[in-house]
Amino acid sequence: MNTQDIIALDKKYYMNTFGDRLPVVFEYGHKSTLYDKEGKAYTDFLGGIAVNVLGYGHPNHIEAILTQAKKLIHCSNLFYIESQAELARLLVQNSFGDRVFFANSGAEANEGAIKLARKYFRDMGMNKYKIITTDNSFHGRTLTTLAATGQKKYQIPFLPLPPGFITVPFNDLEAIKKVIDDETCAIMIELIQGEGGIIEADYEYVKSLEKLCREREILLIIDEVQTGMGRTGKLFAYQHYDILPDIITLAKGLGGGVPISAVIAREPVASAFDPGSHGSTFGGNPLACSAGIAVLSTILDEGLIDRCAGLGDYFKAKLNALKDMYGFIKEIRGKGLMLGMELDPSVSGKEIVNIALSRGYIINCTGCNTLRFAPPLVITQEEIDKLICELDSIFNDISEV
Ligand SMILES: Cc1ncc(COP(=O)(O)O)c(C=O)c1O
Repeated sequence: MNTQDIIALDKKYYMNTFGDRLPVVFEYGHKSTLYDKEGKAYTDFLGGIAVNVLGYGHPNHIEAILTQAKKLIHCSNLFYIESQAELARLLVQNSFGDRVFFANSGAEANEGAIKLARKYFRDMGMNKYKIITTDNSFHGRTLTTLAATGQKKYQIPFLPLPPGFITVPFNDLEAIKKVIDDETCAIMIELIQGEGGIIEADYEYVKSLEKLCREREILLIIDEVQTGMGRTGKLFAYQHYDILPDIITLAKGLGGGVPISAVIAREPVASAFDPGSHGSTFGGNPLACSAGIAVLSTILDEGLIDRCAGLGDYFKAKLNALKDMYGFIKEIRGKGLMLGMELDPSVSGKEIVNIALSRGYIINCTGCNTLRFAPPLVITQEEIDKLICELDSIFNDISEV
């Protein structure tokens, strides 16, 4: 099939939740480059939306998946699973946590974290069930994670949503203090709002949140679905803030494209998930966990975290240099290789995404007109330089119109 045939098939048979997608069908990838059906190359500055941390075709990733697929793809959680136990150990040894639960998507991990927080207090006979989240956040699209998501546009078509969620402005400690009561069980936040437009939580805000949680006996849940797995220049974004969360959730980068997500918690919270309280058919199956082990070990063994931090600083400085040249660039934000460039409303971010695509670069526009860059962690400085030149040329062209 050629690209047009595939698009026609999709339009006829696939539920149209993604609207008019970008009109490209990718055939294969290598490192940070994707190739479409017609053989055109694209440098990928989106990484499957922060998923493909090792890029495409990393030998460790492919080898782990092939080896496990030949042995055993799935066997059910009724049995002990070697790669599951091993990935859990690796995550615990490299984080604040004591125990891990595996699921399949970011929303599912967050749903698990919410259930865990509520059950922890229920087990102690306490009526604490309310979760405070922030405006402009994104926590997923199940009914409960939509209730946690602080964006009305996603919620309205699906009302009523499960009760017990309160959203307050981001980076506003006083707003949180005002809504906390004896029924509050957790605060759940992203440390860099991803879908919301790459908006960073302030250091002092997060430190104070941690303190407040301890004082009021509230759990701190960090949604690291997008920020985790080295993306921000630390393995987990909470490590930038010198805090100890109670629960974090991971997804996107964890399997490097193989669906797997995780809830990591410290004791005694983790023990609230006791036999029968939670589960998943696919969660943490042998194949997904083998992919996860390959991703995490490669990140650690190949020094991808420091690489991400260094290249991220370099990339951010280059984006800031563009900001100095073009008045319609409002702000550059983010950490590591999770960066955003907010544009003035007079310029269409979506149009820039389309032009960049036609010139062989994959970027994305999210939040309020913010270009988002989340490339594989194996992206090179040369590829960053080439993108910056291309953006300069695109910005120059649109300034002249
Ligand atoms: C911070 C955050 N949490 C949760 C999710 C939901 O993840 P998924 O689409 O895998 O359910 C996303 C997805 O973009 C996200 O960025």
